[in-house]
Amino acid sequence: MTSTDRGRPEIALDVHGPEFRDANYAIYDDLRERCPVAWSTENGGFWLLTDYDSTLEATRDDALFTSTPGTNIPFGAGDGDIGPATVLPPIHTDPPLTGAMRRLVVRFLSLARAVELEPQIRAIADELIDEFIEDGHADLVTQLTTPLPARVVLRLLGFAESNWPEWVLVIHTFIHGDEYGMTRAQATERVTTLIFDELSAREQRNAPADDLVGSILDGTVEGRPLTIEEQFGYLLLLLFGGMDTTSGLAGNSLLRMIERPELRQRLIERPELMRSATEEFLRHGTPTQGLARTISRDTDWRGVRLAEGDRVLLAWAAANRDPNVFECPADVDLERAPNRHLAFGVGQHRCLGSNLARVMFRVMIERILARLPDFVPDGEATRFADASAVYALKELPVRFTPGVPRR
Ligand code: HEM
Repeated sequence: MTSTDRGRPEIALDVHGPEFRDANYAIYDDLRERCPVAWSTENGGFWLLTDYDSTLEATRDDALFTSTPGTNIPFGAGDGDIGPATVLPPIHTDPPLTGAMRRLVVRFLSLARAVELEPQIRAIADELIDEFIEDGHADLVTQLTTPLPARVVLRLLGFAESNWPEWVLVIHTFIHGDEYGMTRAQATERVTTLIFDELSAREQRNAPADDLVGSILDGTVEGRPLTIEEQFGYLLLLLFGGMDTTSGLAGNSLLRMIERPELRQRLIERPELMRSATEEFLRHGTPTQGLARTISRDTDWRGVRLAEGDRVLLAWAAANRDPNVFECPADVDLERAPNRHLAFGVGQHRCLGSNLARVMFRVMIERILARLPDFVPDGEATRFADASAVYALKELPVRFTPGVPRR
């Protein structure tokens, strides 16, 4: 690490590279101890916050740490230039517009709504497990944790659920890069068509104006309707935000249960621990590792000089392993309390889908533990190459005692 004339401790960390993916938690621990506010010269240059306090302080100061123009490092990597979506509301907005945008959809993503959807989510989980339970082997990521959130989010939007593989392909391409032979340009073209096709199908079937999509299309913010770009971006964000993150959480947690079978055993014996376990898995294997902000003015902050336009990565995953807040942070404690993790962010932009994500995650784990409780590895678990936006497994092959389908 070097120190420059701006007094900033410099590192050369590429958050899109394999070194970060393979050693992210060791890197966070080291930086948090030495310089919790560091400047990386890679990815166009950015500040990296790795301790809980500075991450929390930054998220609470929306005026200094703005979410416009985008929340990726560098700007444009995974956002900002996706077809007509020049902006993804509300994540790329600042208050007061953020609140107005959120109000349009909040009732469709409430805790009550997530609870109401639980039987449907369980039915999808059982249907997916039915497809492989007799085989005695499966890839839990591609056959369960990926299709389930994709189908639930599409159903929530009233979009064709059977199209989930196409949505997953384009979303994986945006989030993780060219993993399946599709370029970002092709994904942009495809997603634009997919959304416009859904909107015209909606018009043809005279869909109700007061559903989730209707409230984005017909809603108003600050006394005006949303622009086409905002509408398109909002829909895209709901699809982006909901699918890969929830699958990432489930994959990371299942891998932990393979590495530490006593965790799985405890959940089988005491299923009532699933709620606190969900929070602990969110903390320990945080899928959205970090999201960025942009500095709005030159200022001194926590011993460094921030300049207008500087990018700052708020590493939720690093904050969630801060030993000043979480005792033995590298351990998984299924009963950890309190557990004020930042896996869903905090403040004005706190995740709108957290209720739904928790239910989808819990149901997937509950059904796996009920129907294939003795799963063991059947080959190597692989991760997506780029872990900067979503830290997720790409494949988790397992084998287990074959069971009987429910259909
Ligand atoms: C385990 C699963 C999930 C994780 C870890 C997660 C994580 C996050 C985080 C960290 C943020 C904060 C963004 C920021 O501060 O800049 C966020 C925002 C958001 N999430 Fe999630 N998310 C998950 C699931 C979902 C689901 C299922 C949906 C929708 C169906 C969703 C929709 C959104 C939206 C719309 C926002 C933007 C909120 C705003 O900017 O006001 N997320 N999410």
